[in-house]
Amino acid sequence: MTPVAEQAARRRTFAIISHPDAGKTTLTEKLLLLGGAIHLAGQVKARGERRRTRSDWMQIEQQRGISVSTSVMTFEYGGNIFNLLDTPGHEDFSEDTYRTLTAVDSAIMVIDAARGIESQTRKLFEVCRLRDVPIVTFVNKIDREGLDPFALLDEIQETLALDTVPMSWPVGMGVTLQGVYDLVGRRLLPYAKQGEHPEAIAAEPDGLDGKVPAEHAEKLAEDAELIEAACPAFDLESYREGHLTPVFFGSALKEFGVEELLWNLGRVAPPPRPQPAQPREIKPEEEKVSGFVFKVQANMDKNHRDRIAYLRLVSGRFKRGMKLKQARTGKTMAVHNPIMFFAQDRELAEEAWPGDILGIPNHGQLRVGDTLVEAGETRFTGIPNFAPEILRRVRLDDPMRAKHLKRALEDLAEEGVTQVFRPVIDSSYVVGVVGQLQLDVLAQRIETEYNVRAAFEAAPFETARWVDADDPQMLKKFIDRNRSAVAEDRDGAPVYMARNFWDMGRIQEDWPDIRFSATRERW
Ligand code: G4P
Repeated sequence: MTPVAEQAARRRTFAIISHPDAGKTTLTEKLLLLGGAIHLAGQVKARGERRRTRSDWMQIEQQRGISVSTSVMTFEYGGNIFNLLDTPGHEDFSEDTYRTLTAVDSAIMVIDAARGIESQTRKLFEVCRLRDVPIVTFVNKIDREGLDPFALLDEIQETLALDTVPMSWPVGMGVTLQGVYDLVGRRLLPYAKQGEHPEAIAAEPDGLDGKVPAEHAEKLAEDAELIEAACPAFDLESYREGHLTPVFFGSALKEFGVEELLWNLGRVAPPPRPQPAQPREIKPEEEKVSGFVFKVQANMDKNHRDRIAYLRLVSGRFKRGMKLKQARTGKTMAVHNPIMFFAQDRELAEEAWPGDILGIPNHGQLRVGDTLVEAGETRFTGIPNFAPEILRRVRLDDPMRAKHLKRALEDLAEEGVTQVFRPVIDSSYVVGVVGQLQLDVLAQRIETEYNVRAAFEAAPFETARWVDADDPQMLKKFIDRNRSAVAEDRDGAPVYMARNFWDMGRIQEDWPDIRFSATRERW
């Protein structure tokens, strides 16, 4: 095996998807502890606090108690390197979340044992399914009363249309929790106080008499029989294709069942996968360095208008100082200060491998969707813009600040916080977002970071589609006839804005030679 193939095989780049409060933060913290990345529980939140004070717009995050930003955490466990990408959990941020999920190879789905599948879990799951991202399920909070484990499996199976294979099984739950039975290793992991690690008890599921109270021993023997009869065996291929989810039970808070989860993630989760690209897909073991930008974070430090572009490395061995070509512009940039992210620190990365995430400081050259390559003409695909669901006209309080507004909108559009359109008939700005919260973030950031007060007024439009045609004359004709409803996105691509869905339907019927698309690849 070449060094690149060897290093790629060790990488597990993943995200945690869950509904707020299911325990994502707690689980993240415990995973980082196991990886030796942090030494004290509680650090993840503490770190969150520090980060918040750094950037005012995160006030919203504080006020609403949700996580808006994406970060990356790298740690090592059992010989593997794990790159955990934090996904913003709020439904309004589906666009950002989608892009983050383009950069992972697998996900852990955390479910609260008492609540089962919740709305946000389902939405995030749908995004994973779009890209066939394989999922390991962790049923959390079994130290409290929860739903019957069989009922939970049924729910996953029915609401997500996913085969479930329990890999471990709770013995008791809540106050009667005795432990989890490891169905693969055929042993009981006794539940104990945090920090205590009693020996596992090797025994078949019907052999625990005398080791746990009789009613629990009996129940486990019965359950195991049912599982054997009703659940398929774990099939690695089926999991990696996204048809089947292995299910683990535990308690993130009590640090119970978490190590089994991580150990198995290292064992079954896929290493970096080939990535779709033009003119051909790119395999991780290829020697030439390539990667794509899935996120840009600006203004982390208000005094320096710095931006960090998050690059997912797809292939090759990256070395600090390397020159990479930006596919969109053809320009070459030397990457002198690439950053890797650890729980408490960022460090200069001397080298990085497929699956790793690099932070590249820049002054706005790098955009979401950009491809960087050592050589060749590759462009990664599948990182779309989404047609906005809310359109607003921007009104400036002080006309003298027009230049600043332009700058703010351009910056924030580059970062993917909003989309910006310019109607062809006047010089106003229309912003487009996929959710209301995104609009709040936008207003707050324009004010605190650019010192511009702007209001968002209802636009006479409700929805938008990119328009395109094989015949340029036809496209021109369409634009000329519909000037009052056509705008350009920031790359100059034409967009038709409709008053309502009925209007959109009608125009599509009237213009059969025009293509209307709800997404546009970010090239
Ligand atoms: P999130 O990131 O998914 O939103 O969830 P988070 O980890 O913040 O957990 C939400 C709440 O659930 C927290 O309680 C947390 O302590 C609790 N929790 C997480 N895992 C477990 C578990 O395995 N068992 C039990 N019993 N509780 C768990 P909180 O009271 O909201 O916050 P805190 O004051 O405890 O931090």
